[in-house]
Amino acid sequence: MFDLAPKPGDLDPIETASRDEIAALQLDRLKWSLRHAYENVAHYRKSFDEAGVHPDDLKTLADLGKFPFTDKQTLRDNYPFGMYAVPREQVARVHASSGTTGKPTVVGYTRNDIKTWATVMARSLRAAGARPGMICHVAYGYGLFTGGLGAHYGAEELGMTVVPISGGMTERQVSLIEDFRPDVIMVTPSYMLAILDEYRARGIDPRETSLKVGVFGAEPWTNAMRQEIEAAFDMHAVDIYGLSEVMGPGVANECVETKDGLHIWEDHFYPEIIDPVTGEVLPDGEIGELVFTSLTKEAMPVIRYRTRDLTRLLPGTARSMRRMEKVTGRSDDMMILRGVNVFPTQIEEQLLRVEGLAPHYQVELTRSGRMDEMTVHVEALPTHADDAQRAASAAELKTHIKNVIGISTRIAVADPGVIERSMGKAKRVIDNRPKA
Ligand code: DLL
Repeated sequence: MFDLAPKPGDLDPIETASRDEIAALQLDRLKWSLRHAYENVAHYRKSFDEAGVHPDDLKTLADLGKFPFTDKQTLRDNYPFGMYAVPREQVARVHASSGTTGKPTVVGYTRNDIKTWATVMARSLRAAGARPGMICHVAYGYGLFTGGLGAHYGAEELGMTVVPISGGMTERQVSLIEDFRPDVIMVTPSYMLAILDEYRARGIDPRETSLKVGVFGAEPWTNAMRQEIEAAFDMHAVDIYGLSEVMGPGVANECVETKDGLHIWEDHFYPEIIDPVTGEVLPDGEIGELVFTSLTKEAMPVIRYRTRDLTRLLPGTARSMRRMEKVTGRSDDMMILRGVNVFPTQIEEQLLRVEGLAPHYQVELTRSGRMDEMTVHVEALPTHADDAQRAASAAELKTHIKNVIGISTRIAVADPGVIERSMGKAKRVIDNRPKA
């Protein structure tokens, strides 16, 4: 794999600033952001007043804990434009996240916000090993989803040549990678696997592609999946995190030289970890729900937004800003089976240990009597065609899941290509339990 580590002088000064410098900047910006939200968004004025707090009460960063949380419901209640802190005419762009039920969550950006976003996204790409002049194949979806356009503006800002292919049309993805010879690909990890299938179907060796690094995110994926993709393509696989409500992709990114969790761009997004049940702020190092407060956003500041993503905060390494550990899952994705909490990523980890199985999977929940049951649907590799081989792989996976996670599952090994392929975020859980 290529050495893509940055050279001294490649980074923004803030990326190597001292913790004191970062904290001082955060405190200034936090004061501004709280005031901006309070003075310009009816919801924040009301919720701060009800909680008996005022922006002037923030004297230290820890005082943020006195302010009320915001969540997806708050955004839905103020659909579509009620959370804007500037007149609608100053909103240069709208994005929205689909949401499986009810109305989408709408967000907005001023021209300055779009510049800020491009800056943090360019910083993310540089952390991943991208450099000016490289070619960037953007296969995140373009449209209301923040993935495509967010990646696009960042890659342009860094000075790359952008190929805005968007998601889908997998055959064409492969043709353009072969013809344009991009250095960097930006796509969900699950869709990268569909691209890998297409390489194999065409008989082209994926290790021979021009790709040096993939910047993968928008859904949880494990370190086991990282190794799978890195080995298949002989490229680096780096994690990128973000969410529409806070900005889009580029809130945090891993550094290619360390691949040890995602540095949060703390000069723009202030993180906290809370106990998801009590709301209490937890110290760095403890696992809980990630909460963000925007420090510079104009059009739609968010104060203590509850992401539902579970992770923990760790000290900086390759950069001085703190890291978040790879997200294990969203609290919404957590399944409880006979009292054991399970995330799809835990199944993924075990699946990737078993030879003869492809990395595509879905978890189905059903109920028989009063008991919930889980079936893990996986695919055999094309080389693994006979029933005895498949039964052995199924038994091995069942044992790993039982021993490591502690639950009994059914394993259904299907033919190659049977499990639904995503062109963006993969749907990992199918809940077929009767609705209460
Ligand atoms: O998924 C933004 C994005 C686009 C991030 C492209 C990275 C790359 P939303 O559609 O609003 O925005 O979904 C946000 O996706 O709260 C997480 O649950 C999940 N997510 C995003 N990145 C990661 C990641 C985009 N690297 C929601 N690991 C977030 C795990 C992720 N989950």
